[in-house]
Amino acid sequence: MSSVNSPDSGASLRSSTGPDTGAVLVAGSEWWRSAVIYQIYPRSFADSNGDGMGDLAGISDRLPALRDLGVDAIWLSPFYTSPQNDAGYDVADYCDVDPRFGTLADFDRLQREAHDLGMRVIVDIVPNHSSNEHAWFQAALASPVGSVERSRYIFRDGSGENGELPPNNWQSIFGGNAWTRITEADGTPGQWYLHLFDRSQPDLDWENPWVHDRFRDVLRFWLDRGVDGFRVDVAHGMVKAAGLPDYTPPADAGSMGGGLGDELEAGEAQIPPYFGQEGVHEIFRDWRRVLDQYEGDRALVAEAWVEPLSRLAEWVRPDEMHQAFNFTYLETDWEASALRRTIDTSISAFGEVGAPSTWVLSNHDVVRHASRLGLDDSGPQGAGIGPLTPGKPDAVLGLRRARAASALMLSLPGSAYVYQGEELGLPEVIDLPDAFREDPTFFRTAGERYGRDGCRVPIPWEPGVPAYGFSPSGESWLPQPGDWDDYARSAQAGRPGSTLELYRTALRLRRERELGLGAVEWLPGFRDEVVAFRNSGVTVISNLGEVPVELPSGRVLLSSEDLREGVLPTDTTVWLVED
Ligand code: NOJ
Repeated sequence: MSSVNSPDSGASLRSSTGPDTGAVLVAGSEWWRSAVIYQIYPRSFADSNGDGMGDLAGISDRLPALRDLGVDAIWLSPFYTSPQNDAGYDVADYCDVDPRFGTLADFDRLQREAHDLGMRVIVDIVPNHSSNEHAWFQAALASPVGSVERSRYIFRDGSGENGELPPNNWQSIFGGNAWTRITEADGTPGQWYLHLFDRSQPDLDWENPWVHDRFRDVLRFWLDRGVDGFRVDVAHGMVKAAGLPDYTPPADAGSMGGGLGDELEAGEAQIPPYFGQEGVHEIFRDWRRVLDQYEGDRALVAEAWVEPLSRLAEWVRPDEMHQAFNFTYLETDWEASALRRTIDTSISAFGEVGAPSTWVLSNHDVVRHASRLGLDDSGPQGAGIGPLTPGKPDAVLGLRRARAASALMLSLPGSAYVYQGEELGLPEVIDLPDAFREDPTFFRTAGERYGRDGCRVPIPWEPGVPAYGFSPSGESWLPQPGDWDDYARSAQAGRPGSTLELYRTALRLRRERELGLGAVEWLPGFRDEVVAFRNSGVTVISNLGEVPVELPSGRVLLSSEDLREGVLPTDTTVWLVED
């Protein structure tokens, strides 16, 4: 079995190697095909003004640490004007910076400094919904039924005798009803509006050309400022099926996916009328035409919780987006045959349409993989874990597996995503006091689902100082655990065997050996519990079984654990070369 990541599919020019990490921006290089992209969650990365909330100036100050890590690009989760009901994924002005995070001038500085350090900058765009505080929605509320202003959102009359029931049975991805009834200007109970997420996130109506025009403007606003691309939020949800028919998702549907699941592979499941509709593709073809008018290889990345991979690949056809997050990989169990299958299917499904595969293990919506891989069962994405979740993660096992999983991921051809803090081996924070929780999932399910706050705790920079150096005042919008000294970046820097050094080494070797542009050639002769392949002359072996694996001859370039006596112990990944 062998997978080839179409070597001639455009990956012709590669960034040349400079000092340290070697990052140099080269126009026209299709950099996104092999890039390692680091996700910054602005609230929790670095706080420069001491209010306990991370900000853009804090990010700028800490950029050298990311260059030192060796990433090619950063992706910034939303920092736009927002009431922050969904941590910024509720945007009240798409073309301005929320004062909590800074100003447009701060953004310009951040982008300039990132570019100077050889890192691209991707920003988030949230087109499925706006905030209810957006001027467009406020105008819709103030305007009569049937008005132009209302037509920008999905307003409907209620069902029931007096319109007292929601227009259909859709449930919000965060729990509870997906419809909220408004009070009309004259004080009478009025129409209902759709919100697939929180009630403060009304869905825009992409049947309306006006919405298309506005988002083209938003794209151009940031492209003109010089961004290298966009991560497109809910890129599978913008178009809804005509007539908004009732739909009940399967019981095990993930919180983010809301039901476009595995069953589809068998051709049995119904596609949700709010996800994966054909019409979304026309929008991205249009957006692609906008990006193509700009120089410098700007990229669109789909956040689309869509399975199977062959269907997700439709988002990255040559005239659509450039990349899509591979959540199938993120959700694959720590099991060798399942991983081999996902790797193979990913490379071939994306390769079919000439796109690179991507790889991701963590982000701001899922339980951090250093904890997830130490759980028996992590539950649906977005549900989170908390004090009363049965079966606590095994922290030692979780970190060991996370290191092995990351070393495996970073050896694969294509583009990889790293979520802030995973390079420190950070675990999910489980025992957050309820009073600090902010995720709407927690509130909309009355605490039944803990939600995503546990993976969003501000990250530690230095040991032994207030807030671990996250903030000069020691404030932190979510409390950090008291035992994070050893996870702090400066405590791990230069410490042999630390998770930070493992990532640094992996990223350096990945760049030097051009693993991102290579291909997977499976190696025969290993037990079923072993993932073994060669990529660009590097032999990669992950042992997921109990029995130690005898190592083939070769020089060890990298290992996720200490190796003794020429064997690869359980839950360990090694990279070898023959020379
Ligand atoms: C996906 C984002 O990653 C998540 O954080 C957000 O809550 C939803 N989309 C809604 O915007």
